Amino acid sequence: MKEVYLTNSPKETEAVGMELADTLTRLAPHGALIAMEGEMGVGKTAFVRGFTAALGIKGAKSPTYTIVNEYCGAHAVFHFDMYRIEDEEDLYAIGFEDYLAREGYIFIEWSENVKGALPSPHVTLSITRTDDACGRRIEIRGLDAIAR
Ligand SMILES: Nc1ncnc2c1ncn2[C@@H]1O[C@H](COP(=O)(O)OP(=O)(O)OP(=O)(O)O)[C@@H](O)[C@H]1O
Ligand SMILES: [Mg+2]
Repeated sequence: MKEVYLTNSPKETEAVGMELADTLTRLAPHGALIAMEGEMGVGKTAFVRGFTAALGIKGAKSPTYTIVNEYCGAHAVFHFDMYRIEDEEDLYAIGFEDYLAREGYIFIEWSENVKGALPSPHVTLSITRTDDACGRRIEIRGLDAIAR
């Protein structure tokens, strides 16, 4: 897949998520960690919804209040929202280490908040707004190094 995509609707962002699912299930069938960067409402959850849909999981929702949502489709997906995680102690409290040891794809919204705790290698996915109201630029880095 490409390193940069430009989308103009939530559906198009979901489609890029689906493409990442195709790519990662081939490159890293046992799982991988995807650190997401991007401001509030930029489309991180929409992207994960597309990824999970490709694995047969319908209607993934934001883990804003739950911190983590777990899904079981063709592969397991653990979807974190670290918006309110402030330090190592908070991470420990949610059992983050245990998730790292499991098979499956770990998506982390607000990975900016837990940078020091992310294992390498991982995929970095950054979403930014473009000039159009519904325009988004999606950049995916680190795919070359994550085969496991
Ligand atoms: N090209 C686009 N891609 C994704 N979402 C878009 C796009 N254009 C508009 N949107 C809108 O942007 C919002 C994205 O919401 P979403 O919950 O996915 O963001 P988020 O990055 O997860 O936010 P948060 O940090 O609050 O969890 C939705 O309201 C969606 O309709
Ligand atoms: Mg979100």
